[in-house]
Amino acid sequence: MLESSLIAARAYEEALVKTVFEPWAKRAVEIANPLSGEVVLDLACGTGIGLRLMSSLVGKLGKIISVDNDPAMISVAKELFADIDDDHKARVEWYDCGAEALILSPNQLDLCTLLQGPNFLKDPKKVLRDVLVALKPGGRVVGSAWAGIEENKGHFAIASALEKLGYQPALKPFSLGSPDTLRDVFMSSGFAIEKFYTEQKIISFNSVKEFVSGVAAGAPATRHAISQLDPNTYEKFFEMVEELLSKYSSTNGVSLPTQAHIVVAVSKV
Ligand SMILES: C[S@@+](CC[C@H](N)C(=O)[O-])C[C@H]1O[C@@H](n2cnc3c(N)ncnc32)[C@H](O)[C@@H]1O
Repeated sequence: MLESSLIAARAYEEALVKTVFEPWAKRAVEIANPLSGEVVLDLACGTGIGLRLMSSLVGKLGKIISVDNDPAMISVAKELFADIDDDHKARVEWYDCGAEALILSPNQLDLCTLLQGPNFLKDPKKVLRDVLVALKPGGRVVGSAWAGIEENKGHFAIASALEKLGYQPALKPFSLGSPDTLRDVFMSSGFAIEKFYTEQKIISFNSVKEFVSGVAAGAPATRHAISQLDPNTYEKFFEMVEELLSKYSSTNGVSLPTQAHIVVAVSKV
């Protein structure tokens, strides 16, 4: 595993999970409502926020299968999971592979969570078709994905500044931003949409600098877009982002609107 990937995974956890991903994961887990004894597949698990939130809910009788294609993310997830009190620990299986490569057995799962995941997968429809076969009767998938980038003001400012400077922004995290596109990924994989939520959350950082540095250090896609900048261009880029986000800034820090969809999908039959 590359040291730089481990540094990025730690930065993802420290700078972005607590501030951005945990509040959204909490909401998705509340909707998914994992029950004691259930077997859950947490795809694109990252540093394991879904696992940590669901572990005590499925309990010792339950199991969580955590999968991510970045071994550094899995490594940090394992460290953080090891810190949880044993009384509340579900059994866990770990796989550091692409979700596309995972071999699942029929009738194995009660629930599959894809927390900010469907938009990252190479082939989400293939993955969902495999998950469909692996779900027990009555099983469900709960996936969350960012809405359009324009609704996610911090990333919109970063993408706009990169584009103005002639660099390619990272648009993959927002690629399923249209509700119809996200619904279609599930429906064309054999699922019926049981519920579909579009919600907003304000995420807060102590400063625009803290937000941009966190994204530059740890965001799975956007950190690569920002890394194209040399130090001088980074200064200019940062000034542009700060200006674009001035209306969300105050002496208390910066409060950025985010918007995401959460879908609950079940077998059509
Ligand atoms: C935005 S993060 C979300 C992580 C976590 N679910 C959370 O809510 O914090 C997206 C994750 O998808 C993982 N990922 C990207 N492509 C993947 C694939 N093909 N299979 C499995 N994981 C993948 C990345 O490594 C990253 O950890």
